[in-house]
Amino acid sequence: VADAVRSGWVSSSGPFLAEFERAWAAYCGRSEGVAVSNGTVALEVAVATLELEPGDEVIMPAFTIVSCALAVLYAGGVPVLVDADPATWTLDPAAVESRIGPRTRAIMPVHIYGHPANMEPVLAAAERAGLAVIEDAAEAHGADCLVEGEWRRCGSFGNASCFSFYANKLVTTGEGGMVVTDDRALAERARSLRNLCFEPERRFYHRSLGHNFRLTNLQAALGVAQLERMDGIVERKRAMAAAYRERLATTDALQLPPEEPWARSVYWMYGVVLHDDVGLDAAELGSRLSRLGVETRPFFLGMHEQPALLERGLFAGEKYPVTERLARRGLYLPSGLGLTEEQIERVSDAVAEALA
Ligand SMILES: Cc1ncc(COP(=O)(O)O)c(C=O)c1O
Repeated sequence: VADAVRSGWVSSSGPFLAEFERAWAAYCGRSEGVAVSNGTVALEVAVATLELEPGDEVIMPAFTIVSCALAVLYAGGVPVLVDADPATWTLDPAAVESRIGPRTRAIMPVHIYGHPANMEPVLAAAERAGLAVIEDAAEAHGADCLVEGEWRRCGSFGNASCFSFYANKLVTTGEGGMVVTDDRALAERARSLRNLCFEPERRFYHRSLGHNFRLTNLQAALGVAQLERMDGIVERKRAMAAAYRERLATTDALQLPPEEPWARSVYWMYGVVLHDDVGLDAAELGSRLSRLGVETRPFFLGMHEQPALLERGLFAGEKYPVTERLARRGLYLPSGLGLTEEQIERVSDAVAEALA
């Protein structure tokens, strides 16, 4: 960062940007990286490259962040939801197939809290139906998923993959995001959209509507430095999850974060879900923990329960029971990289006390 400041390359050109794009794409097994200002606009740019016609549909999980739905709506498309799988909290691949119709153009699998979506059936469904895949890997830096017997990095799947480098992510640039892809034309279009769609040959001439979604060289310098430590970061997150698992194993009130045999999670957030027979919900558990000095965060509220989306006539009368249950019975415990073993111990003791 100091080098970037000293060199004067503080805005959206400079060697750290080029290096961050190259190195992050390579880490994900991709050939192209397009750095943008956050994960939400990474999704926006990636979906924009699909050139949806009004009314074209994109299948996504109900259990996700609103950014996924926004990207499709801003592109003139319609988000179509599938429920979460109760074991992994990611989109249920069995439900995807039943939502594919004549207007479906793409599937957007989202890895949740560091655990991959089950990509093998999702990719197979997309291939059978000739659909694009836009992977939302914002929460799964460095996670892997087994596909056809081969471990593949999250961020390597489909037409394009999107990342966030928000403060709480495994790699952060303060705010930031990236689209990674192997498709050169898609990457070029994404670069153009991020930078106001300037014409390469005639600078202040515009054939289409673009955005200023640029990341700065200063931010990229932060990213490059962390990428050098990526293996250690993933190892630490997995060790933290193991420490929580060991300490929380004695409570039978909670479903702990999963790790399927086909998945290597990075446990971005350590989420827990209260079993149905426990007489309190996540909000009550959160307040009890707060009184004990432990901050938590609620799980996502489903897309079909969002007033801003319902007001647009979306998802009328639709029910996604797994998502609804997760929203009411799930929360995540302190999960920051700086957390010590002692703090994990203290949080786990507080959970036991709150549940007693
Ligand atoms: C799954 C998912 N997608 C997209 C985003 C959006 O990223 P950002 O906050 O950088 O806009 C997030 C944010 O945390 C996320 O969790």
